[in-house]
Parts: sequence; C-alpha cells; structure tokens
Amino acid sequence: MKIIVLGAAAGGGFPQWNAASANNTRSFAGDPNHPQLTQASLAVSANGADWLLLNAAPDLRQQIIATHELHPKTPPRSSPIKAVVLTGADVDALTGLLTLRERQPFALWATPYVHKVIAANPIFGVLDPVLVETKSIDGAFEPLPGLRCEAFAAPGKPPLYLERIEGIGPAEGASIGLRLTGANGKVLVFLPSCAEITPKVQAAIDGADILFFDGTMYTDDEMIRSGEGAKTARRMGHVAMTGAGGAIEALRKIKARARYFIHINNSNPALNRAAPERRAVEAEGWRIAEDGMRIEL
Ligand code: MLT
Ligand code: MN
Repeated sequence: MKIIVLGAAAGGGFPQWNAASANNTRSFAGDPNHPQLTQASLAVSANGADWLLLNAAPDLRQQIIATHELHPKTPPRSSPIKAVVLTGADVDALTGLLTLRERQPFALWATPYVHKVIAANPIFGVLDPVLVETKSIDGAFEPLPGLRCEAFAAPGKPPLYLERIEGIGPAEGASIGLRLTGANGKVLVFLPSCAEITPKVQAAIDGADILFFDGTMYTDDEMIRSGEGAKTARRMGHVAMTGAGGAIEALRKIKARARYFIHINNSNPALNRAAPERRAVEAEGWRIAEDGMRIEL
C-alpha cells in the first residue's frame, strides 16, 4: 500500500487566512520551522496507478498539482483518482468534491448521513450522477481492487454548519474512521476527527501498521487561553493530544507500529518543528504529519 499525505492541517489550513498568532505569522512568512500545510487528506493506492482519496479537502486542486502521482496521464481527459471515501461532512472533508467536477467518473463512498448532506446542497450537482457513483458505506467494502476498507463509528457531532439545525449531540454516520488493509495484510487507520477515545475506538486502531489520528489541538483549552476561540477541542469534536483522556495517554497501550497526528489546527504549538511541544510529542513515539510525506506499507 502506498500512502501520500496530501494535507495535514485541520480546517483553515496552516497558516489560516485570518490567523495572526506568532506561529501563523511565521508560516505566512515562509519560515521552514512552520511549514505551510493544506487541509487533511490522504491518497492511498494498491498498485501505484489507481488512487483513492481519503477525504476531499478544499485545497484538493493545489494538492493534485503538488502530487505527480495524481496528475492526469491519458489524453484528452483522465485522472488516476478512481474513488473518494469521506469520513464526515465537515467543510474541510468534502468541499474538494467541487474540484472533481465535471464529467470524470469516480466512486464516492460515504455514510448515508453524509450522502444526505451532499444531496441537500445543490452545488454538488456539479458531480454528474451518471458518472459519479454514489456508494453507501455499510461495514466493509473494497474502494479499489486490493484495498479492503472497514468503517467504524467515531465519536463526534454534526458539522459546525449544521449545529444550529441538528444540535451538537452524536449523529449516526456523521463521523467515521477507516481501517484499510492491503493485499499484504498491512493496515492503515485514518481517524482525523475523534471526540473521545472509547474502548471501541481503541479496538478499531489496535494492530495498525500506521495510524493517522486526530491531532487538532495540543491542549483542550488552547484556543480559549490564546484568545483564538471560545471552544474547547472537545466541544469541537476533537480529543486533545495531551492531558487526561488525550490521544497520547489513551492510545499508549494500543499497538500501532507508526503513529502520526493529522488534522492539526493552526493554533497547535506542536506545528512548530522547533517547539518543546513538538519534542514532547515525538518523545511519546508520535510524529506530526506534513504535506507531501510518502509512506509505503
Ligand atoms: C472541525 O474539524 O472541527 C471542523 O472542520 C471545523 C470547521 O468546520 O471549520
Ligand atoms: Mn475539520
């Protein structure tokens, strides 16, 4: 299995358009310790020719241009992107679908909840239903030959833009994680949004060869303390990296050969390659994903 990190940042990217904190300012200036990151997405392939996208970020056009594996190769029109799997309906997870217009066939896998959100937004009509196959996720499926995918529920909430309509309680299918197994039995787990690490989440991750996990915030209240926001990470549907119940602690006893944080918010101090928070994360055996990383399992 070949894996490319197309984007490692949370919604807004790094730097974010309206964020003027020290880290964002350094990132805007091109400081190599604050590398610019697009919004979270992975590309996965079994054969190196056909690719599956895990989420379609708003930056997808830029991500495709930066990734030669995803360039069209057969004239006049074609794409190595054969399928997309969505883990939720957040803006940062699905608006890249608008980049995949028009008249290019691919399979679009999502839960009934996410498909309903897409169907309710007429702008996604740019995806011609004759060419874009709508596939409902229900347990295990094979999005590409040689890649088996099992979806599991991730504790979470409806997307921010639906909170006023649906509230903030759990909604079935609003947030899932993915466990992908290649032909050689190697396992990738992708869980970019997780509000709580329950025993079920631990079981779904256990034994992964590579894990990409929700790294939105370093501490639960970092946006409140910095004045960047009024919500805790947990209120936004994300466990923090550190603290009681945080990812580092709650996954310490779980087997995962390589563990990466992805979906990292621009407020997270561990984005700074030279920060003590980065060293603390790495000392716990975790790495911070960055755009363009390529991993072969
Ligand atoms: C999140 O991950 O919490 C959302 O992407 C936030 C947002 O929609 O901006
Ligand atoms: Mn997000």
